Amino acid sequence: MVPANLTLRGSNYLTFAQQVTSPNQLIFPITAQVNSQDHLTIGGCDVIELVQNFGSPLYILDEETLRLASRQYRDSLLRFYPGKSQVIYASKAWSSLAICAIIASEGIGFDVVSGGELYTTLMALETIGLKDKAYSLIYFHGNNKSLDELSYAIENHCTIIVDNWWELEALESLAQEPVKIMLRLTPGIECHTHEYIRTGSLDSKFGFDPNQFEQLFSYVSQHKKLNCVGLHAHIGSQIFEKEPHQDLTSVLAKSLQSAKEHGLEIDTLNIGGGLGIRYTESDDPPSIVEWVEAVSKAMVDACTLAGIALPKLMIEPGRSLIATACVTAYTVGSSKEIPGIRNYIAVDGGMSDNPRPITYQSLYRVVLANGMSENAQFKVTIAGKHCESGDILIKDATLPETSSGDILVVPATGAYNSSMSSNYNRLPRPAAVLVNQGEANLIVKRETYLDLVKQDVLPERLSNHQS
Ligand code: LLP
Repeated sequence: MVPANLTLRGSNYLTFAQQVTSPNQLIFPITAQVNSQDHLTIGGCDVIELVQNFGSPLYILDEETLRLASRQYRDSLLRFYPGKSQVIYASKAWSSLAICAIIASEGIGFDVVSGGELYTTLMALETIGLKDKAYSLIYFHGNNKSLDELSYAIENHCTIIVDNWWELEALESLAQEPVKIMLRLTPGIECHTHEYIRTGSLDSKFGFDPNQFEQLFSYVSQHKKLNCVGLHAHIGSQIFEKEPHQDLTSVLAKSLQSAKEHGLEIDTLNIGGGLGIRYTESDDPPSIVEWVEAVSKAMVDACTLAGIALPKLMIEPGRSLIATACVTAYTVGSSKEIPGIRNYIAVDGGMSDNPRPITYQSLYRVVLANGMSENAQFKVTIAGKHCESGDILIKDATLPETSSGDILVVPATGAYNSSMSSNYNRLPRPAAVLVNQGEANLIVKRETYLDLVKQDVLPERLSNHQS
């Protein structure tokens, strides 16, 4: 039995949504409702009509939820942290022109990790007249940036989060004048999350090792083209505890003190992202406001203890900013009953638009969007359409009776879904639509079969082939 507060049955869900306003603690976007036709609506738009107009599968992004999460991060940092602060969006969660434009309009900057993410962000900033602010808004991450990517970041005056010794040397030789950098440290902090998305432990491909910090600070202080403004660490993703980030503030504060002793004029500490979200009822993350309050206070305490002035505090959330703002709509096709074993329902997408279940065994909820108040009494497994037995979106979901043509909606798909999507089995990637107060705007076009062969090249000698 699905708990009443999450069944989305009219007022039950609404009451729940009003009580819990931290998007990362909800499963559906804040605007989710059920209309008189018993259809799910998001951002005032009927999901069934959206699918009729924009096709299926469809990513549906709710602007209000995205803006609310952005404001909660920004405002609570201003409220709880007495020093300077900045929120940047980890655009690896989902990067597109429209998303970058919304995020930037909320006064939030960007963490980019590739030339492609940088290009997208710059283009969005240009469109909204903020390109000249790129130097203060964009932070370039990555453990293996290419020389071209580094040059691109330098040209656009981004701050570069340096990950390793090779990169320090590369920057030295590429830079004509001092480049603004931060140093990514491996803090040696464990957290409870999937091992693929844990990055702060000592055995990590990211960042400088603690036993090299002294040598690192001394090296950087002697190289004038490396204008080091701060230290950075990211410990992992989908974290429900506050302690690992609180511990991180003290590792960073101590490191800052040590960097100062080596003559580095550092005034910024970036504690990364990582706050978890609620995918299913059993997930219980702290709210955005609670998390920001906890890390702000921890940073103040850590700095007091280390005897240093309050640095600028940076945070870089991805998942908790955007995941809950998006749902994915699918159309039901075939089904298969194996008596005594399992009932499968197949949808028109799967691991290509949501690779998270097959990659991390992630759990999701699902609802019948064209029959929201129907009694959910059947246990079914939602399978994707890919030629792979593991292409299962949700094992043992509870749904009303469904038939071919019904629309299923999987919530909390805004982070690392579209951004990790693929064309496996040559499936064109889905469209994405932005909804707000009854208006729906296409923000990513659906790929076509032509798009699938667009980059293919057929050598001359293989064409006009006579057998
Ligand atoms: N900063 C850095 C340096 C990161 O590597 C990440 C995420 C973030 C910030 C944002 O973390 P968030 O707030 O989103 O937890 N594909 C995986 C998640 C990989 C996270 C990679 N780094 C997934 O689907 O769960």
